Amino acid sequence: MILIDGKKVAAEMKQEIAAKVLELKEKGGKTPHLAAVLVGHDGGSETYVAYKIKDCEAVGFKSSLVRYEDDVTEEELLSKVQELNEDTDIDGFIVQLPLPGHISEQKVIEAIDPKKDVDGFHPENVGRMVIGLPSFVSATPFGIVELLKRYNIETNGKNCVIVGRSNIVGRPLSVLLSQKAINATVTVAHSRTQNLEEVCRNADILVAAIGVPEFVKKNMVKEGAVVIDVGTTRVKSDQTKSGWKLKGDVLFDEVASKCSYITPVPGGVGPMTRVSLLHNTLLAATGKIY
Ligand code: GUN
Repeated sequence: MILIDGKKVAAEMKQEIAAKVLELKEKGGKTPHLAAVLVGHDGGSETYVAYKIKDCEAVGFKSSLVRYEDDVTEEELLSKVQELNEDTDIDGFIVQLPLPGHISEQKVIEAIDPKKDVDGFHPENVGRMVIGLPSFVSATPFGIVELLKRYNIETNGKNCVIVGRSNIVGRPLSVLLSQKAINATVTVAHSRTQNLEEVCRNADILVAAIGVPEFVKKNMVKEGAVVIDVGTTRVKSDQTKSGWKLKGDVLFDEVASKCSYITPVPGGVGPMTRVSLLHNTLLAATGKIY
């Protein structure tokens, strides 16, 4: 069994991005600039956005953080999105999700200029990706494909089962893996899938993206399969300094010995998601998509 080291691959990609930023600056180009909008004080969102800002610094990007309290109105938020769309110094921005219930996430996503939508959530980017046009691809699916590529994992003609059909991970990943450069045969399984164990056992590459800790057990995995764990559920823990611990969607200790490759949690997909946002921001700053 080979442990897929997402932390190491992400660090390599960060170095590649930092080198490109340096080259841009030396040629008198603009410093890439990412902005993040954070509403409220959700612990997970606070952590993720803090990482995004820290990552920008590490590769030489500029970053800006715009904060609102939970009671911000939809109108105020949409007006900030418009302002960021028009700010020529900002190359890309994200609005951290989830948003409070009184704000329509879809309305906010659709208000973002697709050219600055480095999350790849705007329907225009999703649509472009589906038909194979240059687009911003959402961070986790892009990161997973990059991990498979950098570990030279064979995808041609392989059976890939993705458990979970979210707009952020499962659905876009299913499109990417079925594209011509990758050529996997893709099944998207979900809560209504019949014989889920059997469907998963048929996977050469099994992606767990359901958000249920330790959902994938030994009996759901074929001998020699590649297992990609997208789960990042924060659970309380008295063993860590922060008081929280991340749990994946795969029961790692039981499943690992059956796999040819497996991603750990933490240190697998998570760091790849982080670096993919930097990748998209660099693409936005250098006009590589639009
Ligand atoms: N919430 C959880 N993941 C993400 C992400 O990738 N982008 C944004 N904007 N919000 C998130």
